[in-house]
Amino acid sequence: MHLLRSYFKTGERDCTGYSPKRYRVQSIAFTLLFTVLITSCEKKPEVPQGPLQIYFTADVNGRLEPCGCFTGQYGGLTRIDTWLDYRDPTAASLRLDVGDALKGTADYDLIHYEHLAKGFQHLNYQALNVGAREASLSLAELKEIAAKTGAPLISANLVDDQTGTPVLPPYRMVESQNRKVAVIGLVDPASVTNTLGEGLAVQAMETSLTNLLSKIATEHSPDLTILLAFTDEAKLRSLAQQFYELDIILGGDVPQPSQELIIENESVILFTTNEARAVGDLKFELTGRQITKPAFDIHLMQETIPQSPAILALSKSYRDLVRTTKLDIDDPASADNEAIIPGGGFGHSYVGSESCAACHPKATAAWKKSRHAHAFSTLTKSSTDADPNCIVCHTVGFGEVSGYRREFGADKLTNVGCESCHGPGSEHVTQRALGDPTKVTFQFRPLGASDCTKCHHGEFSRPFKWDEFWPLIQHGKEAAMP
Ligand code: HEC
Ligand code: HEC
Ligand code: HEC
Ligand code: HEC
Repeated sequence: MHLLRSYFKTGERDCTGYSPKRYRVQSIAFTLLFTVLITSCEKKPEVPQGPLQIYFTADVNGRLEPCGCFTGQYGGLTRIDTWLDYRDPTAASLRLDVGDALKGTADYDLIHYEHLAKGFQHLNYQALNVGAREASLSLAELKEIAAKTGAPLISANLVDDQTGTPVLPPYRMVESQNRKVAVIGLVDPASVTNTLGEGLAVQAMETSLTNLLSKIATEHSPDLTILLAFTDEAKLRSLAQQFYELDIILGGDVPQPSQELIIENESVILFTTNEARAVGDLKFELTGRQITKPAFDIHLMQETIPQSPAILALSKSYRDLVRTTKLDIDDPASADNEAIIPGGGFGHSYVGSESCAACHPKATAAWKKSRHAHAFSTLTKSSTDADPNCIVCHTVGFGEVSGYRREFGADKLTNVGCESCHGPGSEHVTQRALGDPTKVTFQFRPLGASDCTKCHHGEFSRPFKWDEFWPLIQHGKEAAMP
């Protein structure tokens, strides 16, 4: 696909750079004259300027390494590293992240992000934009992370709510193919309405851009201006309409990656998402300030791509550190009661699958044969058994007051137990024991497919189908006994 711009982005030209003012040149004659001008006032011999190449990601969502919960196409920085090395061994391309690389705001998420930031640096990323998730950290946390990791974080509209000053550098000047490239970062205020971190405020994207673009033009006269905007497609288009200076706009707050190259007011618009499973790819030529021959692709990080040892090592270093660090979630008083498991209610607690065995021998036998009963050893094998990101679905009630805690090790409430699905069993067990041996006072509620997809979803499972999955773990009514 070809994009031929019918204008050039300059007013007065002085051989040292272009003013950012853009005039539409309708006449071919004028364009020819312009070309002659370029050639005639060139001062130094031309430096070789090959085509430019951008690789970009969004919504990495903490996927330094994918979980490996099933075999299929599942990305991770581990695979992106290998893939980029293969595509671009000299790292000549621009590598940019549009935001939402962070997974969450828990203490272990921050420890993880430090490793992720090192991962991006290893991958030679030149700019990491702040997305909605990064903007949900507090001002202090963001500043600390930026200082600690030295990661090239940018945001032009995230400001200190007291002083109104930017929290991070608003943009970065980078070089590619001997071109001066300005990379600006923005996050949509609408993406962070209820989640904005303590001490932070977000300015309207347009306000920040208006102020910044003229400053960048005067100070740097860039050959190319790229906007990383964590927002949706409609707003990406609207920014293109309002700001002619933006040559390329890359977005990230979208339900799926671009299906096609979008040209809006002569800006190239692309976006991606998908938890480090998709890498955006834009290649083009730059003649003066004119983008020509843009070619775009979205590459899926298939599982056949080997995982890079360097990034796997970072992932391991995270796991080692998180194992020995005291986390908020280790303290039941501060535990999050919003359980992944249904049922229960106030006062019910987890008693462990062993407590069910005597009265439900057949169900127990069926369960023991299933992989659910071995889900914890899956984690110990890969030393992920102290990673909150993993144990949440491979144990019973993790994160709830009476649920699994890391200090239990492999002692109790491990695996996907009876109560992972049926809910905390203390009431069912005691009330049954106190009264009529054939009746229970507290009854568990009936379960269905939605109780399975709490764990069996996305990259964590093969596509879930009740009719295929349930028969593999089926168990049911039996004469409950002593
Ligand atoms: C959202 C819930 C969830 C989380 C979080 C999760 N898993 Fe899993 N895991 C599953 C489910 C469900 C399966 C079974 C998938 C299937 O059978 O298709 C599984 C299966 C696995 C398997 C494959 C077991 C086998 O023998 O086939 C591995 C390995 C695994 N998980 C490791 C991890 C690691 C490591 C993490 C943390 C990085 C993690 N899981 C986080 C739900 C989860
Ligand atoms: C608490 C999280 C969780 C819930 C809820 C859950 N699963 Fe799983 N399931 C897992 C994990 C983890 C594994 C993989 C265990 C392993 O191999 O380490 C798994 C594996 C499986 C497997 C492969 C097991 C085998 O023996 O082949 C099936 C089938 C399955 N689950 C069905 C279900 C069904 C049906 C439900 C709902 C009734 C359900 N699961 C609910 C976490 C869960
Ligand atoms: C002391 C015996 C006993 C123990 C221990 C026990 N149950 Fe039950 N359970 C029963 C009886 C009796 C019933 C009712 C039997 C029936 O209606 O088929 C029952 C019914 C159930 C039912 C059907 C729904 C309901 O509540 O009626 C489920 C699910 C269940 N038990 C799960 C569990 C789980 C999970 C555990 C372990 C946490 C457990 N049971 C421990 C005796 C027991
Ligand atoms: C992966 C989720 C899961 C696990 C683990 C699991 N169950 Fe179930 N169980 C179900 C589902 C789904 C049903 C069928 C739907 C229903 O009756 O709620 C069921 C049904 C039952 C029933 C019959 C309920 C009835 O009314 O007919 C009993 C009893 C029972 N389970 C006990 C157990 C015991 C004991 C364990 C542990 C040894 C266990 N279950 C582990 C999901 C699970």
